[in-house]
Amino acid sequence: MHSLIIFGASGDLTSRKLIPALYKLFLKKRLPSINIVGFSRTSMDDNAWRGKLAETTRRFAADVFSEESWNAFALLIHYHAGDIAKSESFASLDSYLGVLEQAAGEADESNRLYYLATAPQFYEAAAEQLGAAGLAAESPGKSRRVVIEKPFGTDLVSARHLNEVIHRNFDESQIYRIDHYLGKETVNNMLVLRFANAIFEPIWNRNYISDIQITANEDILIGRRSLYYEKAGILRDMFQNHLLQILTFTAMEPPARFDAKAIRDEKVKVLQSIRAMAEKEAPLNSIRGQYRSYRDEEGVAKGSQTATYGAVRLFIDNWRWKDVPIFLRSGKGMSCMSTQVVINFRQPPHSMFKEFSNSVPEGNRLLLQLQPAEGIQIHFMTKIPDTDMKIRMSELNFNFKNSFSGVMPDSYERLLLDALHGDASLFARSDEVEAAWRIIDPIQKAWDSGIMQDPEFYETGSTGPVQADRWIESFGQKWFDLCPIV
Ligand code: BG6
Repeated sequence: MHSLIIFGASGDLTSRKLIPALYKLFLKKRLPSINIVGFSRTSMDDNAWRGKLAETTRRFAADVFSEESWNAFALLIHYHAGDIAKSESFASLDSYLGVLEQAAGEADESNRLYYLATAPQFYEAAAEQLGAAGLAAESPGKSRRVVIEKPFGTDLVSARHLNEVIHRNFDESQIYRIDHYLGKETVNNMLVLRFANAIFEPIWNRNYISDIQITANEDILIGRRSLYYEKAGILRDMFQNHLLQILTFTAMEPPARFDAKAIRDEKVKVLQSIRAMAEKEAPLNSIRGQYRSYRDEEGVAKGSQTATYGAVRLFIDNWRWKDVPIFLRSGKGMSCMSTQVVINFRQPPHSMFKEFSNSVPEGNRLLLQLQPAEGIQIHFMTKIPDTDMKIRMSELNFNFKNSFSGVMPDSYERLLLDALHGDASLFARSDEVEAAWRIIDPIQKAWDSGIMQDPEFYETGSTGPVQADRWIESFGQKWFDLCPIV
């Protein structure tokens, strides 16, 4: 028997992501026996909350929603009003959960998963209150776990502090720091591609790879999130977490097993091997932009310097990757949504076709299209038929949709289930989060100081700041841009 307690029950994340994911798991019959308990300050009863969630789930899980199945699922949903700042709210939550668990007749084996879906400023208080009320203490057959949403701190110092506070109340083994990118099927498939096939790994290193580009572009703007976004900006919002997580999967050594320790040990090694960038090196190694209408968004300061686009060049100082540039980039308001990893291979050392073709053989390319139009492409040179020996790039195309039936599940489905089952493989460990901030901090500091040029404006619906193209070209590379056809 499990109790999933969602703090921040009336928030956006709960209605957009968590409840639809739980509902889909319920439909697939993958949910264990469970009570889902919402906790937030608004006073309402179970039925009022169920009603609100029915409305939002109808929208956010429209493809699978039916009244009948919702009514069955809704019986698992409960609500308990409380205030994170008040210790008595936690005492009453404990008794409330006790009653629910007893009603289920399984009081001796009730696992509790606390999901902190609140605004980040409440994470510490929630952890402290859970600890003080004795709600974090585990005993045999009774797990007590906590899921913490991003952002996990705003820099290394705050992330360390948050880790300390949470560690005062929970053991690391009870903590699940979520990065929803790690629940994406295609991100997980990167491990399968690399470590369940034998043909890629021998060439997956500096001897064959010239550079790597990891892109997470979005066509959406910041919408109603200016309060958060003005303080976060693209580096904290996308780089510290999602892009660096994808980088660890791209660059890690093969773990011996698929388990939380083996995987996270290897990921941390990658992050710790990334060459430290001094603040004064950031202008050479990064570029930033802002979509032109950003300052007109509600809540955005007129002279805001917050970047909505960023590109960063990193190096991993180890045997496998020494001197292979790794370019990370992400932008809002771009021409299309596309998350991809591009592995550019070196050019053939010598071309025997020069006299027939203007084109020198380009290096091969492996494109992992993580979303949308999920798939993998291999780009390779071919002879153009009916020419003497002219050559050009062609593609081998694998597409998940054509090969597998069904829709891609939402990443929260996988991650919620893993947290309920106690598998932390796809969650970030404390040392991992801190190592990621250590990489981002000096770049963010440079961006916040006067040593960088102001963010360059770019038009919404474009490929980002013009300077970003010049910048990568100055290193002898070119962005590989692809707007996938969905
Ligand atoms: C979130 C960021 O973590 O990820 C958002 O805060 C971003 O700004 C989102 O839009 C992207 O997630 P996905 O799953 O749509 O690629």
